[in-house]
Amino acid sequence: MNSCINNKLEFIEKTLQEREKNHNLRQLNPIYPKDSVTIVKNGKSLINFSSNDYLGLSKHPKIIAASQDYLNQYGTGSTASRLVTGNYDIHEKLEQKLAKLCNKEAALLFNSGFQANTTIIPTLVNQKSLVLCDRLVHNSILQGILLSKAQWKRYQHNDLSHLDRLLQKAVLQGYNRVLIVTETVFSMEGDRSDVDALIQLSQQYNTLLYLDDAHALGIMGEKGMGLTANKSGIDISLGTFGKAIGSFGAFIATSKLIRDYLINCCPGFIYTTALPPAVIASIEAAVDMIPSLDQQRNYLLQQIEYVQKKLRNLGYQVLSSSSPIIPIIIGDEKKTLNLSEYLENNGILATAIRPPTVPPNTSRVRLVLSSEHQPKQIDYLISLLQNYHEH
Ligand SMILES: Cc1ncc(COP(=O)(O)O)c(C=O)c1O
Repeated sequence: MNSCINNKLEFIEKTLQEREKNHNLRQLNPIYPKDSVTIVKNGKSLINFSSNDYLGLSKHPKIIAASQDYLNQYGTGSTASRLVTGNYDIHEKLEQKLAKLCNKEAALLFNSGFQANTTIIPTLVNQKSLVLCDRLVHNSILQGILLSKAQWKRYQHNDLSHLDRLLQKAVLQGYNRVLIVTETVFSMEGDRSDVDALIQLSQQYNTLLYLDDAHALGIMGEKGMGLTANKSGIDISLGTFGKAIGSFGAFIATSKLIRDYLINCCPGFIYTTALPPAVIASIEAAVDMIPSLDQQRNYLLQQIEYVQKKLRNLGYQVLSSSSPIIPIIIGDEKKTLNLSEYLENNGILATAIRPPTVPPNTSRVRLVLSSEHQPKQIDYLISLLQNYHEH
């Protein structure tokens, strides 16, 4: 019996051993967040250059107070799915606010960005469809595509002439529909898609267009509402609340028609408990604040340019990005871990990102800036990188 159990789990042990051998075994480390840019790990205080809390809103006193208020009024949980008894007035009010701020007909909340991507895509396409996505899209998008059972092809990263060629071929293949899906700001590269050109291609070939705006919401676009806000011709744009909004959950901005369709047909909307009241309050309070945070956004932009320039001058291979995500490409897994460890030993948290999250030989230390980082913290990071001699 025992040997049977051991045998049964052998594939797990082998996978983990393989990961360890290749320096890409993932492990959880407990941390305590002291403030929006400082954490404590193993009893040591570290400046956090890895979180997606681009505006420091996860620790904003007004937002915390708003959460406490809804917690007192509505309780800890929303007790059921939206279609049963979880559809509180605050869920609907937030959706209306989001739709208005994005200048779209409608919005619909989802419990996370991962959940939204994995459940919406299979509700839009099926075995008879084609999905065309950027080569570097987030894993949640890939999972959604795989679940849909649609045929799919990836175009070279941000290469819209390649996408155009794939669309030309698709026209002749008799698919029931074609979906283009990509990110507006790439989570591991920090660079952007050309949203207007994507809209143009989608219209030219009459495809569905789904854009994941997770890393733009809060820090880019008009009033900070992302790169897809105020643009027509996008069927669904996804925003997540776990990044610049400092909370948790996600929403899509879309048409009334698509909203109605998803409420009726999307399993990841129908069969899950609605977001809890304290979370709704934090999102609402952050969204109210976002349009007025131009000063923070401008400061962030200046720091992005400053850090990129400094790192390039030091000889680091830094991907061009106009977002707070600044990946330093090292290539080799072990060397990437060495740099991340060196920074951590000196008081900086900057996570190493390795395959399979990124393509082979592109391991990187992914720096993420926040408007809450003080110039002296940024200069300290740069001085450490200047004194590091292994790159
Ligand atoms: C581009 C992109 N889409 C979706 C997600 C998932 O969002 P969430 O963290 O809300 O599940 C992430 C975050 O990891 C992301 O970077």
